[in-house]
Amino acid sequence: MKIEKIEFVCSSPSLKLCPNEDIPEFAFIGRSNVGKSSLINMLAGQKGLAKVSGTPGKTRLLNHFKVESAIGKDSASSSWFLVDLPGYGFAKLSKAQKEKFEGLIQSYLQNRENLALTFLLIDSRLEPQKIDLEFMNWLGDNEVGFVILFTKTDKLSKTQLNNNLSAYQKALSASWVELPTIIPTSAETKYGREDVLETIGEALREIEKGC
Ligand code: GTP
Ligand code: MG
Repeated sequence: MKIEKIEFVCSSPSLKLCPNEDIPEFAFIGRSNVGKSSLINMLAGQKGLAKVSGTPGKTRLLNHFKVESAIGKDSASSSWFLVDLPGYGFAKLSKAQKEKFEGLIQSYLQNRENLALTFLLIDSRLEPQKIDLEFMNWLGDNEVGFVILFTKTDKLSKTQLNNNLSAYQKALSASWVELPTIIPTSAETKYGREDVLETIGEALREIEKGC
């Protein structure tokens, strides 16, 4: 799958203010600072598209980008939204602010009708974190389909990455009969770019077939 064009559409403070065009939507979610905005820029091949920051909590709105891509061998073109969501679990927010952002994320994931697939980003360097495992359980309970993206894998050796992938699969097997897919990525080296784009392409083809 090849991205032909990508442009920022708008930043929305609530679900009801999101764009109402009915095209498939792919959301990127994860803890604050996990690398959501960087990964979106890497997929887009445009460094400054989504705002990246060393300070956690940079993305506080639902940011929509519209993508035109060629998904099939016949190069049929397809339009879809990519969404950069605010991070969860940002320690420096007040309880009220935290509840506001979590409410925004939850209402989006539960009610966004054109949401095709959610990518849950996990920092590949960390041991499985309770907050992420709980969030996955919440996604499962709410029937939100997701694929895990391991981020920042450039910071690990191959052996460390394999060990961390195994540890993660083991932690997931405590709750999941069928393990979610995990795709290792790096915004620095572009590792995993084709795999993520193919996953989106596959979902778009399924939607076109009317599945
Ligand atoms: P919030 O918007 O605050 O929720 O953060 P975010 O998840 O969008 O993270 P962001 O993309 O802003 O990246 C956070 C920090 O991690 C930045 O300093 C990035 O440069 C760094 N970073 C992101 N992805 C990678 C990666 O693949 N490799 C390395 N080495 N650093 C990364
Ligand atoms: Mg961000």
